[in-house]
Amino acid sequence: MDITFLLNGETRHLTDADPTASLLDWLRDSAGLRGTKEGCNEGDCGACTVLLTDAAGARAVNACLLMLGQIDGCALRTVEGLAAPDGSLHPVQQALIDHHGSQCGFCTPGIAVSLAAAHLTGCRDHDDILAGNLCRCTGYAPIIRAAKAAQAAPVPAHLLTETARDLGKPSSGGRGQTAPGTAFAAWPDSADALAAAFLARPDATLIAGATDVALWQTKALRDLGDVIFLNGCKDMQSISQAAGELRIGAGVTMSALRRALENHHPAFAALLRRFASEQVRNAATIGGNIANGSPIADTPPVLIALGARLTLRRGTARRDIALQDFYLGYRQQDRAPGEFIEAITTPASAPGLRVWKLSKRFDQDISAVCGAFNLTCDAGVITAARVAFGGMAATPKRATAFEAALIGQAFTEATFQVAIPALADDFQPISDMRASADYRLRAAQGMALRYLHEAQGLPVSVLEVAP
Ligand SMILES: Cc1cc2nc3c(=O)[nH]c(=O)nc-3n(C[C@H](O)[C@H](O)[C@H](O)COP(=O)(O)OP(=O)(O)OC[C@H]3O[C@@H](n4cnc5c(N)ncnc54)[C@H](O)[C@@H]3O)c2cc1C
Ligand code: FES
Ligand code: FES
Repeated sequence: MDITFLLNGETRHLTDADPTASLLDWLRDSAGLRGTKEGCNEGDCGACTVLLTDAAGARAVNACLLMLGQIDGCALRTVEGLAAPDGSLHPVQQALIDHHGSQCGFCTPGIAVSLAAAHLTGCRDHDDILAGNLCRCTGYAPIIRAAKAAQAAPVPAHLLTETARDLGKPSSGGRGQTAPGTAFAAWPDSADALAAAFLARPDATLIAGATDVALWQTKALRDLGDVIFLNGCKDMQSISQAAGELRIGAGVTMSALRRALENHHPAFAALLRRFASEQVRNAATIGGNIANGSPIADTPPVLIALGARLTLRRGTARRDIALQDFYLGYRQQDRAPGEFIEAITTPASAPGLRVWKLSKRFDQDISAVCGAFNLTCDAGVITAARVAFGGMAATPKRATAFEAALIGQAFTEATFQVAIPALADDFQPISDMRASADYRLRAAQGMALRYLHEAQGLPVSVLEVAP
């Protein structure tokens, strides 16, 4: 495969590159840019953070989760490319020095790139943007002080120019190619082209953000076989609103979704703040989260509670299916060979929606239990209830017995106390390293009560409890 991209301001053209090769490995081993560190090689530590710019803008991403096939037509900055061409340091680099934001320094390149990305985009929530950057020795206070000190400085000209440049669509123009390291790779540039390519090769691995697929390679050492990259399908990366519904393209990233949902579904947007880290959210797509089919994925319970529907596409044929019917069993889906998720449709608003993710850490952690509650009340009576959980069964699943015990009843403590035991009929969770079965059930029941108490204005968040 031929791949063309900007690397620290210079055009790089790779011929016969393996499109599934790790960008981190290529940067360190082939480009000799060893400032980009390998810590975990699974998206958790942020030591490999690089700045990626394409038509969607500039953002921090993890190089260990990116494949070479995903950077065609993009601009990349590694830590070596943050300083200006005359050698003067980027404001965040200087501030890290001035505020003693580094000790052993292993995390520092990734932290500098994350801070530079936020400096460029104007993001000031330093806790959020650093949640995916692990530092074991400095402690975050000096790093946050450095971030604050640098935030008013102007963006260096060499980074501004790059942001403004139209880097366009993948230079392969949607063609399929045989490529070293993979049997066949294709880069469709539209949903139509993707449909045709996948129909022709239904066994191919679809690669959207690669935040799951990359680990199949780096951790499970799996051969991906034929691959089809989805990042060129721009028509699957937008959100539109019509007739009271949102149509979310399957290629929309978690970051874009979070921004778009802030007004429509604030509780869903707040959950996405806790989805992985900034770097992962900048790559991970909603279609990938649904299709990966993990029982502890965060978006499916919320989408099921919202009554979301999927548009599945195979060739030119489309069908519509409720997400709650899509999951047939553990990692089993109602999806035919050559069929993919094109879009997700949800109501544009659901004032009764509340969502809680329970995990051991607030940031950058996988759910033990994720609960989503969407209740409608009329004159104090519950007229509709859609409640779904992740982490409680082999698939994300609705709590139908609990819902039935609520519907038609008064929105009161007494109703909830009667209905809550029904969650034990809905779910027989398993014990694993994240939580015991008993803890999961009690946590789900606690979330149900929290829904009522929050609506009654009682304090419910441990983050809000004052000493
Ligand atoms: C460090 C880290 C933290 C994470 N934290 C969370 C978290 O907090 N919550 C959570 O839910 N997940 C989390 N994940 C998992 C992952 O980020 C999500 O599942 C993500 O949404 C996957 O999207 P993607 O675009 O990267 O999918 P990919 O990795 O590209 O693909 C995943 C699967 O979906 C298929 N696929 C992709 N797009 C489509 C499509 N349109 N149609 C059909 N099939 C498709 C692929 O073939 C593959 O089987 C985390 C992952 C990492 C590495
Ligand atoms: S090496 Fe840890 S996130 Fe990439
Ligand atoms: S300075 Fe050592 S890990 Fe951050």
